[in-house]
Amino acid sequence: MDYFSLVIIGITSNLAQIKLIPTLYDLVAGHYLPKSFQIVGVGRTQMDQAGFREFVSKTLRTPNRHHTHSIDKQVEEELFTHLTYLSADLTDLDSYTKLKDILSAHGTGNHMFYLATFPSLYGSIFKNLKSTGLADQAKGWTRLLIEKPIGNDRDSANELNKLLTSYFHEDQIFRLDHYLGKETLQNILTFRFGNGILEPLMTSEHIGSIQVTAAEDFGIGQRGSYYDQNGAIKDVGQNHLLQMIALATMDKPSEMTNEGITKERVKVLQNLVSDPSSLVIGQYEGYLEEKDVAQNSSTETYFSFKTTIQNDRFRGVPVYVRGGKHLARTATEVAVIFKNSPNVLIYRIQPNEGIVLKIMTKKPGHELILEESYMQYCYPHDIDLPDAYEKLIIDALRGDQTYFNDADEVDAQWAFTDPLITAKHGVVPTIYPKGSWGPKDDIDWLEPSSAFCQI
Ligand code: BG6
Repeated sequence: MDYFSLVIIGITSNLAQIKLIPTLYDLVAGHYLPKSFQIVGVGRTQMDQAGFREFVSKTLRTPNRHHTHSIDKQVEEELFTHLTYLSADLTDLDSYTKLKDILSAHGTGNHMFYLATFPSLYGSIFKNLKSTGLADQAKGWTRLLIEKPIGNDRDSANELNKLLTSYFHEDQIFRLDHYLGKETLQNILTFRFGNGILEPLMTSEHIGSIQVTAAEDFGIGQRGSYYDQNGAIKDVGQNHLLQMIALATMDKPSEMTNEGITKERVKVLQNLVSDPSSLVIGQYEGYLEEKDVAQNSSTETYFSFKTTIQNDRFRGVPVYVRGGKHLARTATEVAVIFKNSPNVLIYRIQPNEGIVLKIMTKKPGHELILEESYMQYCYPHDIDLPDAYEKLIIDALRGDQTYFNDADEVDAQWAFTDPLITAKHGVVPTIYPKGSWGPKDDIDWLEPSSAFCQI
């Protein structure tokens, strides 16, 4: 891997605290980064270097469901040797001149800018990077990482993509949806295309329906101001759940390259047709008392809907999709339900990670008693699966865009989602009790099982 400078714009943001700082720690702990690199944290807060270290140290020790292991002082000290803090006003050119000085002192021309800040600042950031020459690639590569949501609807996403490409080439832009970095999602492709036996059955002739679930047994936490503006459909439906559908149903790429894989993902997404009349939305009891949520907010914390894939392979197969917070349990999975048989193929993304086929077997004994069993591949429980952010940051540093979204993909996701967002306008979400499976709909959902890949 090349030497690089990683600039995290918005180092004090929720994203940086929950995901990015812990990921950097893990990358250092795992020795995944070259000997020489620097990380510049940029934020509005006034802090000196000692204050920044203290902030990072405190962040690493704050309880975090994504980062549960203990902190090794030596690894932390090693991380500190690479960190610099810059207190900046992102709308002011002077701040970028200071940033340029810091980057020049390190001597590498390879710069990755990670935007963990409000999208309203993107325009100023791009302009100032350009004016100071920081967007140039004269002395190395320059890459830009931006997080979902890309835009707020199809039109604004296209505007943002236009703005991006007026400053950067497509191969410099890394649009990140962390689900694409999940080991368990990436393995769907290997499972499907590395084995021959099940793939011929992945057609409307054999499949009765597909169910995609992203259920969480917790609420919105401290993210009320973001969540209440967006709701569950935009938060996870427009992106994570669509990616799960894409990987589980896309055709085999002509080659397993960025171009090959991305092209097939995009094709499925462009063929997905939403059915807004099937949309059900709900809100968990007590949501209105959450911090930074508007009084009488009608933001949904749960949704379910039906969609279909308009291609020869899947035409007529209903794909049911649901996502929500404060549901009965945390489970993210794709279940492919076969016709006229008890068989279900489950890609369990988390927890109890694995790929399992539900089959009928005879209970051992003198009577003919049938029981459901699982043929299963489970991830070893004594290894930590690499975190999605870890994988994607490494990919971006290597310049590999396979598991990042391109502009067409984002466009297809919004083209699918916009009609659902329109359909929910004026609809009051059904209140559901915390710990339930959300409001009733017409779908016969399979309850995510904990009977396989047990810890
Ligand atoms: C984020 C959403 O993108 O994904 C969160 O904003 C959601 O609301 C999270 O909880 C789920 O990610 P993971 O990796 O915990 O399944």
